[in-house]
This record gives sequence, C-alpha cells and structure tokens, in this order.
Amino acid sequence: QADLKSKLLDINKEAAKYFYYQLKTPGGKIALDYLQNRQLSEETIKQFGLGYSNKFSDDLYRYLRGLGYDDSTLKESGLITMDEKKGVFDKFWNRVMFPIMDVNNKVIGFGGRVMGDGLPKYLNSPETKLFDKSRNLYGLNFARISRKKNILICEGYMDVIALHQAGFTNAVASLGTAFTGLQANLLKRYTDEVLITYDSDEAGTKAALRAIPILKAAGLSTKVIDMRPYKDPDEFIKALGAEEFQKRIEEARNSFYFEIDVLEKNYDLSDPEHKTKFYNEIGKKLLVFTEEIERNNYIEAIANRYNIGFDNLRKLVNRYGARLI
Ligand code: GTP
Ligand code: MN
Ligand code: MN
Ligand code: MN
Ligand code: MN
Repeated sequence: QADLKSKLLDINKEAAKYFYYQLKTPGGKIALDYLQNRQLSEETIKQFGLGYSNKFSDDLYRYLRGLGYDDSTLKESGLITMDEKKGVFDKFWNRVMFPIMDVNNKVIGFGGRVMGDGLPKYLNSPETKLFDKSRNLYGLNFARISRKKNILICEGYMDVIALHQAGFTNAVASLGTAFTGLQANLLKRYTDEVLITYDSDEAGTKAALRAIPILKAAGLSTKVIDMRPYKDPDEFIKALGAEEFQKRIEEARNSFYFEIDVLEKNYDLSDPEHKTKFYNEIGKKLLVFTEEIERNNYIEAIANRYNIGFDNLRKLVNRYGARLI
C-alpha cells in the first residue's frame, strides 16, 4: 500500500513535468497563449506548474508506460482511463493543466480546463489513494500564512493564481466542491481568521452561506469579501488591480452581517408583514451567539441598523431561545 502510494506520487510528478514541458512545444502553444491571455506571467506558470495535456488521446499513457509503470498502477493514478470496449486513453486531453499539491508540495491530483467553451469547463482527477478533495485546499502549499495573518478562500484555481500573482499570497481555493469541516480544521492549524472571497453570483453566495457555519464551528473568525460588480477575484484584479482588492479586504464584512444581508433580500421591508417575518428570522439567527455579551452586542448592532429597539429585539431572541430549550 505504501508502495502503491509512493508510485502514484511519482506518476503524478512525472505527469506534471510532462504537462509543463508541453507548453514549450509547438503543439502546446495554444495552451501557453491561453495562459498568457489570462495574464499569467512565465514565473507564475512555472511556480504553479501549469501545463497542457496534448490533443492526442494517449500521449501521456505511452510516456508513462515508457517510464516503466504498469497498467494496473496507471489505472490507480486516475490519469489514465481503461475501458474494456473503448480501450486505454488519457483522462485529460487538450486542456490546460493545474497540478494540485498537498502541503508538502506533492502532486496529488490535477484539474484541467478547456480552452474554449466546451463542457465540463473543469475536469478534476477522480478520488484516488492520494487524492481526497475534501481534505485539501488548492494553493495551501504556496500560501504564506501565519497566525497573525488571515487566509483568503476563493472558489477556483484561477482565483488563487491571480491573487498570488498580485501579491495576495495568502489565498487558497476549495475547488468548487462544498467546503468541508476537514478543510476548516486544516485552515485552523495556520490561522484564526478566514476571509471568504467566493464568486459574487448566486452559486458563490450559497456556497459562502454554507461555508460560514463550518468555519465558525472550527473556531475561525469569518468575514466575507464583496467582489461586486465583478464575478470573482481573478476578474476583479484584472479590472481594478491589487490596490482596490486590498481595499475590499479591509472592507470585509463580518459574516453575520453578510448572512443578514442575504436574508434581507427575501423580504420587502416596506410591508409590515414581511418586516415582522424578517425580524423573527433575525431573532432566530441571533441564537447562534451563545455567550450573553456577544449576543447582546449583535442584538444592539442589528437593532440599531433596523431601528427595532434593543429591548424588543432581545425579547424576540429570548422567546426563540426559550422555545428551543
Ligand atoms: P475560469 O472560468 O477559468 O475563471 O474558472 P472559475 O474558477 O472562475 O470557474 P467557476 O467559478 O465556474 O468555478 C469555480 C471552481 O469550481 C473551478 O475553479 C473548478 O475548481 C470548479 N469547477 C468549475 N466548473 C467545473 C466543472 O464543470 N466540473 C468540476 N468538477 N468542477 C468545476
Ligand atoms: Mn461553474
Ligand atoms: Mn463560480
Ligand atoms: Mn469563478
Ligand atoms: Mn474566473
């Protein structure tokens, strides 16, 4: 088993080198152009080990066989698909390749992006003996982080890479999958504060709402960065640059206010009935604060914001609290 794992690590490393090397070939120019169009520097491409999987559908397979790996091991790597009817072929072809590394800089899997509009936009390695998406974060191996510094979590490969290139070397990504408790615990080893920088679309907002309680449960203080009117950090930085992004970091909002803002959109506050329902929802949500002082601070802030009156809101919260007990 240990032997298989170390073989799979070797295969991934060889594959990453192979993909990277393709960028320098005539066939790989299309991918290099793509990355350059996305404004990635040569240095960034090298640092992240980006590459290209050829158009020919078994190039990598033949290369790895040439290095002496057998079919059963190659199958376990997730890089090669073996189908009784269709035969043997590379899982990734004609895609820009992103090696995914663990905190020890070992390549544990890959993501591959189409260069046009094909689907799926991103293809990821399947789960293997090495690759467990739920316990890794893209870019964590490159992240310069410390207890005193926060960590930015974003959605995608390109977000992490664009942020690092712009000097925000504390960015990691959860890679489209739902953020997990294992990932939160991993982050907690390095920091006490996380800034969520998910996409500003509905999917990103929902993903942020799901991630907040998971981060809090791991004991992480959590804020949310607003990317609007741009879709994600990559697009934001391209449009406005690093200084403006830094401002957004400074303006990051307490995640509770973010949750309230999202909730508020469901109600028409000029309608008394809606307003009552909304306040009741807030009342329920305030129960997450179990310490009295903290809860009162939030009650005060929210009461001021909506002109509710501290005592009224506290009574409402306590009523829900009593019901729960
Ligand atoms: P770009 O268009 O290259 O800027 O990608 P993006 O990161 O902005 O894409 P998007 O916001 O749609 O997705 C965020 C992340 O989710 C991606 O980086 C991928 O990790 C993942 N993802 C996106 N599309 C797919 C898909 O079709 N399949 C899978 N498995 N993952 C995806
Ligand atoms: Mn998508
Ligand atoms: Mn998205
Ligand atoms: Mn995006
Ligand atoms: Mn993007």
